[in-house]
This record gives sequence, C-alpha cells and structure tokens, in this order.
Amino acid sequence: MEGKIGEILIDSRQIQSKVAELGRRIETDYKDATCLLVGILKGAFIFMGDLARNIHSPAEFDFMAVSSYGTRTKTSGVVRIIKDLDIDITGQHVLIVEDIIDTGLTLKYLMANLEARGPASLEVCALLNKMVPQGVEIPVKYEGFRIEDVFVVGYGLDYDEKYRNLPYIAKLEIDA
Ligand code: IMP
Ligand code: MG
Repeated sequence: MEGKIGEILIDSRQIQSKVAELGRRIETDYKDATCLLVGILKGAFIFMGDLARNIHSPAEFDFMAVSSYGTRTKTSGVVRIIKDLDIDITGQHVLIVEDIIDTGLTLKYLMANLEARGPASLEVCALLNKMVPQGVEIPVKYEGFRIEDVFVVGYGLDYDEKYRNLPYIAKLEIDA
C-alpha cells in the first residue's frame, strides 16, 4: 500500500504555539521539582526537542524506544521495549512525552511499567489524542490537540518510516 500526504490538519504555526503553551504549563507545575521528561521513540523525537526548548526551568531528559506489534496503521497492544531508560526513575518526577494516543494501549503498558519503578510522580504529555471510543482511558495531564480518528503523519509521526520530517501534521491518503 502506497501512502501520500493528504489534507493538512495542523500547520506548523499552530503546533509551535501549542508546544509553547504546554512548555509554560510544565515549567509552572514543576517549578519546585526537577522534571524528568521521558520521550517515546521514535515518534516523539521532534515534539520532545521543541518542548524541551520551551521549558525554561531545570529538566532532565531520557528516552525509551518501544515497538508495538500490529499492521502499519494499527497497534495490537502487545508492546516490546527496544531501548529502556538509562536513568533510574525511583523517586523522580517523571513526565512521559508521547506523539499520539490512538487506542491508548501503548501508554497503558508504559504507565504500568514505569509506575512499578516507584517514581515520585508520573504524568503524561501527548501532542495528539484521537479519543477513539473503543480505546482505553489514559489520564493525559498535558494534551496538545484532539483529532478525529484518521491516520496522520508528520512532526515525528510516520507511515512506514516516512514523513516524520514534515513540519506539519497531515492526513495520510492510502490508495490500495
Ligand atoms: P496506541 O497504542 O494505539 O495508542 O498507539 C500509539 C502508537 O501508535 C503511537 O505512539 C504511534 O507510534 C502509533 N500511531 C497511532 N496512530 C498513529 C497515526 O495516526 N499516525 C502515525 N502513528 C500512529
Ligand atoms: Mg509508528
């Protein structure tokens, strides 16, 4: 299946102003405690970079890489850790930074996994939330945009490893 870039849902200017707003909120909420941002690779790499530059208070950064089994556009909920954290998060204020919540299964797994390591706090920051009706509920403290249930690419999000470098978020058009 070939995919091509369709309608632009969120342009670069809208993304940047939202990321600045999220950065300000995070900076305010964590003013008394260093926050450890945990970016979920690969999708969150661009969001994490922009968010980092919008947090003007002490923060630390680490990454996890996960892979969920499934098709090219749907996850199965079975998550495998490809790269674990370098930092011990016991007693730390952890903020998971994720590109998109679709079924919520990836984050459900990750939250349980990280919670078991005894952080002082654990919150989620997600740029996009599809809010699919059949999905599991994830408490997202910092949410960028709610979008309709369509497959999107750009700003870190891929289709078959392509389109991550687009500065905007667009629908993917698939011709069978
Ligand atoms: P979930 O487990 O169904 O919530 O899916 C989360 C993961 O699936 C995200 O971290 C993305 O890597 C991927 N994903 C879900 N929806 C999309 C999309 O519309 N475009 C690109 N990747 C997506
Ligand atoms: Mg992906």
